[in-house]
Amino acid sequence: MGHYLVTGGAGFIGSNFVRQLLETTDNRVTVLDALTYAGNRDSLAGLPADRLTFVQGDIADPDVVNDLVATADVVVHFAAESHNDNSLRDPSPFIRTNLVGTFTLLEACRHHDARFHHVSTDEVYGDLALDDPAKFTPETPYRPSSPYSASKAGSDHLVRAWVRSFGVAATLSNCSNNYGPYQHVEKFIPRQITNVLDGGRPKLYGAGLNVRDWIHVEDHNAAVLEIIAHGRIGETYLIGADGEKDNRTVIETILRLMGQPTNAYDHVADRSGHDLRYAIDASKLRVELGWQPLYSDFEAGLAATIGWYRNNEEWWRPQKAAIEAAYAARGQ
Ligand code: NAD
Ligand code: DAU
Repeated sequence: MGHYLVTGGAGFIGSNFVRQLLETTDNRVTVLDALTYAGNRDSLAGLPADRLTFVQGDIADPDVVNDLVATADVVVHFAAESHNDNSLRDPSPFIRTNLVGTFTLLEACRHHDARFHHVSTDEVYGDLALDDPAKFTPETPYRPSSPYSASKAGSDHLVRAWVRSFGVAATLSNCSNNYGPYQHVEKFIPRQITNVLDGGRPKLYGAGLNVRDWIHVEDHNAAVLEIIAHGRIGETYLIGADGEKDNRTVIETILRLMGQPTNAYDHVADRSGHDLRYAIDASKLRVELGWQPLYSDFEAGLAATIGWYRNNEEWWRPQKAAIEAAYAARGQ
């Protein structure tokens, strides 16, 4: 039995990770989360109180971080400012949390000899052309486009430097777009599902030809657990499930699965600097660690996710009106 410190454990992927960890192992978990607009304690409801401790605090606060890392065997770092659109409006919290926060955790892991896993994104590699047969690999050069992806790229560099210079026992993973339960309604798939549930229409940026490589959040987290257990220190593993779809197709699929005409959506203002296509080559993870995704049928995973939002309105309702008002003010 071990003690995991999970940063950002009240967010989308982090809360699903904590649930998976507590349900499949007998480890103890401490969640460190600042409960920003993106964090929600209700995402951890129903989990065993004797093995889960929640601490509200900032990963960029060395006093809080030091005390918690001192007691942990493994630190799994999900906490971040995570939304590209927000980073275009105000990059400053992205710099503080994603860069200073990661630095603060690394320093604590260095002093307390804790194992560190850094959760990052495929966006650090920039984007690919629609007709490019290539996918991202661990050798692809970094070319981030937005303040969000630049801050995540910087955090990846910090982790590698702390491995090489100070011997911190860290691994890294860069994953593609996640979907599943407990994702904030600001993000693409939950926004469209909850718009339809509200009797409104999905909102497609630009022409909707942009491609994202969708993976179910449980498959992402199973890969993270595998990397923590068997990954090589200092290595980077790309996580993806060969789920490339353009945005228009995703919106039309949501509408069809929800019994609506597939053209019942609006084109809205595009995102500035909008990345065209992401695609992951996960062969290193598959071959070296034997990981494979369980959710190979995107439509089935999407239908289950629609069902979750339908059945959990009390979870997303409090955020919805303010998020839509902010999008509307930007013509989106
Ligand atoms: P999220 O926005 O849903 O959750 C982030 C969590 O971090 C929230 O609970 C928030 O309260 C917390 N947080 C923010 N700033 C903090 C701070 N200073 N101190 C402590 N806690 C803080 O994000 P997510 O979508 O779950 O993403 C989690 C991680 O996975 C991020 O590092 C992100 O870059 C990465 N990632 C996300 C995706 C995706 O598709 N969502 C894909 C690949 C990688
Ligand atoms: O690739 C991994 C990344 O995936 C993560 O690092 C980020 O944290 C996560 O937010 C996600 O980034 P994206 O910018 O790809 O996700 P988002 O859900 O914001 O948008 C997905 C696509 O849908 C993108 O091409 C923009 C488009 N979009 C988004 C919204 C919110 C729309 O067309 N309409 C919308 O209303």
